[in-house]
Amino acid sequence: MRTQVGIVGAGPAGLLLGHLLHLNGIDSVIVENRDREYVVDRVRAGVLEQGTVDLMRAIGVAAGLDRRGLRHDGVYVSFDGRRHRIDMAELTGGKAITVYGQNEVVRDLIDARIATTRPLYFEAQDVEVGAIDSAAPTIRFRHGDTAHEVRCDVIAGCDGFHGVCRPSIPAGVLAIYERTYPFGWLGILAEAAPSSEELVYTYHDRGFALFSMRSPAITRLYLQVPPDESIERWSDDRIWNEMLTRMTASDGWRPNVGRIVQKGVTPMRSFVAAPMRHGRLFLAGDAAHIVPPTGAKGLNLAASDVLVLARALKAFYESGSAEWLDRYSEICLRRVWKAQRFSWWMTTLLHKLPDETPFDHQRRIADLDYLTSSRAAMTSLAEQYVGLPSEVTFESAGLLH
Ligand code: APR
Ligand code: PHB
Repeated sequence: MRTQVGIVGAGPAGLLLGHLLHLNGIDSVIVENRDREYVVDRVRAGVLEQGTVDLMRAIGVAAGLDRRGLRHDGVYVSFDGRRHRIDMAELTGGKAITVYGQNEVVRDLIDARIATTRPLYFEAQDVEVGAIDSAAPTIRFRHGDTAHEVRCDVIAGCDGFHGVCRPSIPAGVLAIYERTYPFGWLGILAEAAPSSEELVYTYHDRGFALFSMRSPAITRLYLQVPPDESIERWSDDRIWNEMLTRMTASDGWRPNVGRIVQKGVTPMRSFVAAPMRHGRLFLAGDAAHIVPPTGAKGLNLAASDVLVLARALKAFYESGSAEWLDRYSEICLRRVWKAQRFSWWMTTLLHKLPDETPFDHQRRIADLDYLTSSRAAMTSLAEQYVGLPSEVTFESAGLLH
């Protein structure tokens, strides 16, 4: 097979890129190693920045998002038993976030891809990228009994943190910046109507807790736990006890309790590989960077990366100029590092450290008090939470839709 852009991975990054390229008349082949159900059912985050929502609308993949997405103009930060609302829309000139599960985003993007009839292979085995230093890089894989080789002009490595693209870059090329945290998140989905219309980020003496949702009938909750915690140690009763202990506010607010339909533990990590490119291989999304989920940035960074990449590829095919491709990594990393900083800051502000001293505790409470009482501090949180600008926007990119 021959294509212009070979895309490894059918997560948000790969699927969004494929659609942006399709709209601009650029061919792609998407190669995914899991099956379609697995990719769609995988429970992940669910907060879309204003720019991600605008992008999905601009490229015509927002029908589900517009029907079932929940727009939130504000967010709560809770500590010492009191909830404080930060009015993001008022502080940012009308911007908001939208709660819409990543699995819904992926389902909608797969439907859109299939409607274009462009190739998308699920269950590809032994995926390998080769000749990335040359002008004709390849993706090889097996599909059923057939061995395939896709000859490409460019490969987009959108295969997540555990993919094959980043490790195929020769040793010594990438600088790795990494931080792990001494805690993880235990997350549940429960059949319970959300008891708050907006998210509640809670700091409690026993550790962080987060109230979120997926729909008018499904609540999504998280708890700070030790990093290597086994989910087997958490019966449903124990989970609810801990959730309610940490989240019940002095005014009586608390999450509604319901049947737990999914539970799991996620580790927390900050990670950046730079540059996000080697030869004709471009890394995008989790393949290049991971953020702890506290700032809800992972999916949004994947979207902003592929917008820059689509813009660069459009310039490449229209004028033959590699100038934008050469700037891809630099443009993405500027935004990535700011999101890294924000995610690290939210994480350290809201989690209890295992060796926390009384001084740390008092300083943290003062931090939270400042954040929730200073308009300047609230504006800073709000503008980062709804999403900082990128050098490349959909309008400035001149992409077709
Ligand atoms: N070959 C082909 N596909 C692969 C391979 C491989 N060797 N390894 C992984 N993949 C696929 C995964 O199965 C997954 O579907 O690549 C896809 C990567 O998708 P994501 O992990 O969702 O990453 P990305 O598209 O960058 O989206 C970032 O994902 O991790 C979340 O919360 C994070 O919201 C963020 C988002
Ligand atoms: C979620 O709803 O899954 C969610 C919300 C906010 C976060 C992380 C995850 O910061």
